[in-house]
Amino acid sequence: MTEMRPVTDQATDATPVKKLALPDAQTVTFVKHWTDRLFSFRVTRPASMRFRSGEFVMIGLMGDPDPKTGKQKPLLRAYSIASPSWDEELEFYSIKVQDGPLTSRLQHIQPGDAIILRPKPVGTLVHDALLPGKRIWFFATGTGFAPFASLLREPQTYEDYDEVIITHTCREVGELQYGRELIESLKTDEMLNELIGEGFWKKIKYYPTTTREESPKMGRITDLMRKGEVFADLGVPQINPVEDRAMVCGNLAFNLEIKEMLEGYGLVEGANSNPQHYVVEKAFLD
Ligand code: A2P
Repeated sequence: MTEMRPVTDQATDATPVKKLALPDAQTVTFVKHWTDRLFSFRVTRPASMRFRSGEFVMIGLMGDPDPKTGKQKPLLRAYSIASPSWDEELEFYSIKVQDGPLTSRLQHIQPGDAIILRPKPVGTLVHDALLPGKRIWFFATGTGFAPFASLLREPQTYEDYDEVIITHTCREVGELQYGRELIESLKTDEMLNELIGEGFWKKIKYYPTTTREESPKMGRITDLMRKGEVFADLGVPQINPVEDRAMVCGNLAFNLEIKEMLEGYGLVEGANSNPQHYVVEKAFLD
């Protein structure tokens, strides 16, 4: 990846002057710490940047200077954009890893600080990669909720489906809070209710579960699906390729396990170039 872009905007024909531009910088506008392991933040959005809700970009900070050369390189990681495509800012939801090269530093950002953002969004968790259906399932663990924070605020989600089911499995109750508050906020979001239709949020069925702390619904979503408990609790039939579409974002073991289950229900994996029944993205951890 190109780390510094040489620009020649001040060059004349006679004396070409090459100037090194700073990497793409955006300004932090908001930071909220949810637990000692999780935080979210918002940054300014490059005026020309377009993306589809559910996509990710590379973001990061300048690394420490090389002890020998003194040169600094950007330290970048892929982050799902948690805000919807119409939002004037960009939101991200991140884990804090105390010895992680990036998040050990990123967790200390404050409003007014600069971060690096490469404005080249990509990803498979997009509506374009799915065939029409009746229900959309969003399956998340941990910070894998991020692309769904975008898609839950995307009008197309409600235009395309009668029911929107979001499952979120976390270790502890506090880790559900970002998602819980976001879903709650949709009820009173005047702009979205006007844009999508009054009461659009009634299409959402929220299914939070915890695995290591007591909560009303405990267990891994995969186990709860195998037992049929999820379908009974939600009052929906078992997942089938005629009615159901799914997007998956979580840790690697989870992604693999649920992928196998979805295939077992008869769903076929889709892509931008070949829309099908479900798509998978891994959560990008430090
Ligand atoms: P568990 O506590 O049983 O490992 P993490 O924070 O490690 O990314 O995990 C987030 C959540 O995902 C945890 O609740 C964890 O449950 C759950 N999880 C991990 N692996 C799987 C899997 N293969 N299937 C379903 N859930 C999983």
